[in-house]
Amino acid sequence: MAHFSILLSLLLVVQALAFPQHRSLAGLSERKLADIVPRMNIVKPPPPPGPLSDTSAKLVNDAAHPFQSPGNDDIRGLCPGLNTLANHGYLPRQGIVTPAQIINAYCLFILGFNMGNDLALRLAYTAILVDGNPLTNLLSIGQKSALTGPDPPKPAVVGGLDTHALFEGDASTTRADAFFGDHHSFNETQFDELVEFSNKFGGGVLNLTAATEFRFQRIQESIATNPNFSFVSPRYVGAYGETAFPLLLFVDGRKADRQLPLDHAREFFQDGKMPDGFFRANESITIAIVGGLVEEIFLAHPIQPGANQGRINSYTVDPNDPGFTDQCKGYTDFVNITVKSLYPNPQGILKDTLNTNLDYFFLSMKGTNCTQVFPFDQ
Ligand code: HEM
Repeated sequence: MAHFSILLSLLLVVQALAFPQHRSLAGLSERKLADIVPRMNIVKPPPPPGPLSDTSAKLVNDAAHPFQSPGNDDIRGLCPGLNTLANHGYLPRQGIVTPAQIINAYCLFILGFNMGNDLALRLAYTAILVDGNPLTNLLSIGQKSALTGPDPPKPAVVGGLDTHALFEGDASTTRADAFFGDHHSFNETQFDELVEFSNKFGGGVLNLTAATEFRFQRIQESIATNPNFSFVSPRYVGAYGETAFPLLLFVDGRKADRQLPLDHAREFFQDGKMPDGFFRANESITIAIVGGLVEEIFLAHPIQPGANQGRINSYTVDPNDPGFTDQCKGYTDFVNITVKSLYPNPQGILKDTLNTNLDYFFLSMKGTNCTQVFPFDQ
């Protein structure tokens, strides 16, 4: 028995030492947190920067930001936007945002693509709360194989925007569902389908009609093939947003006609590469702008949030999910249910940094009538 406790303690120490500073703390047991927290390089999250003053279209694939394929130690993940920013040096090329860089990087990705401040806040703070390490203020944009020990038992990857069915999720455009294994890498079969839809509905480009029909198709495909298909908020809302992003952010800002040429689509989705001479969007792409497109995409095939029930073709609508009908419930559910389920009982410095990140997240709700909620004592 004594041997067993010594072995267990040794295992916990080894795991804690091997615990990367960027790895998410979400879902860890109180015992494991107690071991790990003292070994984290704690960084108080600095306030996010405000909006850009110059929001005109600009050359962003410029001499200062050349494309470079990621090196062996560089981490890339499932978001073509973040991969592109890292491959062009707008984000650190290694793929992990350091404490000082997180804010700069956040600022830079707005520079890189002209994303609106509210949308940038929403994405960045969702990511740090769901997939990042709030103590070190670090976030990895991808995954890396590593020894993770028994908790969690699998997958053997560390970091990344990876917590399934929350931010990352099913029915993605060019990434497969987690149920089928690799949900991070570019999937050629799905991209070929996107091309087929663009030819059929968009006259050879990815336009709103093609994107709308492909969104519907991806949902139907997951219902018909993935017994664990989950399509509830926040993933549900995110999936529609990601369908709108390429039309708004990957289209050259001098054209801004919401029609993405397929060779450009491949560069972004597969290689994380801006086309030669690429100009960013010609206005800040805010939540309101994305929301306008999302409404059109949704209304063409109004699938409500829900999930398969462990069997294919068993999609059942979740009547409690706010979907697009109640923005404030979407916010309060995210804070009180999603974040709280990832961190049921945070203490001390972890609670403080979570509260700070939740305050920053709430900045993205400015302009709504929603009231801030506090899942942990202030
Ligand atoms: C802090 C900033 C960002 C975060 C945290 C983020 C996070 C994510 C995550 C977690 C996914 C995967 C969702 C899934 O399972 O399908 C995703 C997908 C996506 N993101 Fe981002 N993203 C960010 C910025 C951007 C930007 C700036 C762009 C475009 C310029 C972008 C474009 C996309 C697109 C098009 C997809 C869908 C990929 C696909 O389904 O094939 N993202 N992002």
